Amino acid sequence: MSAIAAPTPAHPQDTLSGFEEWEHFVEERYPTPLEGQIGPPPMQRTMQRRDGYRDYRAEARPGVKEFYRLNHIHQTMDLVKAKQQDFGRLNRKEMSVWEAIELLDTIVDDSDPDNENSQIWHALQSGEAAREAGLPDWFVLTTFIHDLGKVLCCFGEPQWAVVGDTFPLGCPFSDKIVFPEFFAENPDLKVPSFQRPFGIYEPGCGLDKVAMSWGHDEYLYYVIRHYLPLEAQYIIRYHSFYPLHREHEYLWMLNEQDRKNLKWIKAFNPFDLYSKGDAKPDAERCLPYYRELVDRYLPGRLKW
Ligand SMILES: [Fe+2]
Ligand SMILES: [Fe+2]
Repeated sequence: MSAIAAPTPAHPQDTLSGFEEWEHFVEERYPTPLEGQIGPPPMQRTMQRRDGYRDYRAEARPGVKEFYRLNHIHQTMDLVKAKQQDFGRLNRKEMSVWEAIELLDTIVDDSDPDNENSQIWHALQSGEAAREAGLPDWFVLTTFIHDLGKVLCCFGEPQWAVVGDTFPLGCPFSDKIVFPEFFAENPDLKVPSFQRPFGIYEPGCGLDKVAMSWGHDEYLYYVIRHYLPLEAQYIIRYHSFYPLHREHEYLWMLNEQDRKNLKWIKAFNPFDLYSKGDAKPDAERCLPYYRELVDRYLPGRLKW
């Protein structure tokens, strides 16, 4: 493996102690697995629903809250278009999947010694859970690599432009998005065409025509889109689109192809939420399997 430059230091605007902090928040917000779900058993939750409703606003840690505030203020149509253009050129780096994992693994949560190498463990734990559930090899590979787009933070991107539940721009913000009140300061609210019932879109226009908030999902989709099957592209591109796949908002924008593939995004979700705190897989035993999968679907160096 070639030498990888040390990652850019944490962005001054970063408020999470690590991406795990956002991921824990999402796990806690969606403690109930989807009905009829293929996937692993629900994990031990630290926060249980009371009376069928949990006030995530009160329970969110200050860093998480501030993270969402920055995310909701700065994710605008102009920002998204600029990021799509910039990162869509894939001219940052050429690296293999393994080099990307190595780079991602340099992002560790310094405040928690148990979190060392947590990104590779999240990849292996979710991949192994999918394999044990008997899912097809492309699905297992997708699960294994789904978060590699987080290398964005090694290219100097702030956390609010790397992780977070994603949502569409160019149409009204759903009040089912976490902390919807933080959109009050989003400049897109002042664009009249975005505030029409369907914004700049038409019902059934299809997700591909929709500008999604910028983050690791859309970015990794650019990297892998010519290599992996369409179902895998959907999982990678929309796995953080919680307002759609858990809250059933924005259903009006889906076309026939989106509706067919939504089931794969939903099938994937429990594998994403299942990991932290569970037993670590035996890396030596399972890595040869992933090496073969990567060689088959994503060989050599990819453009990032
Ligand atoms: Fe993710
Ligand atoms: Fe993930």
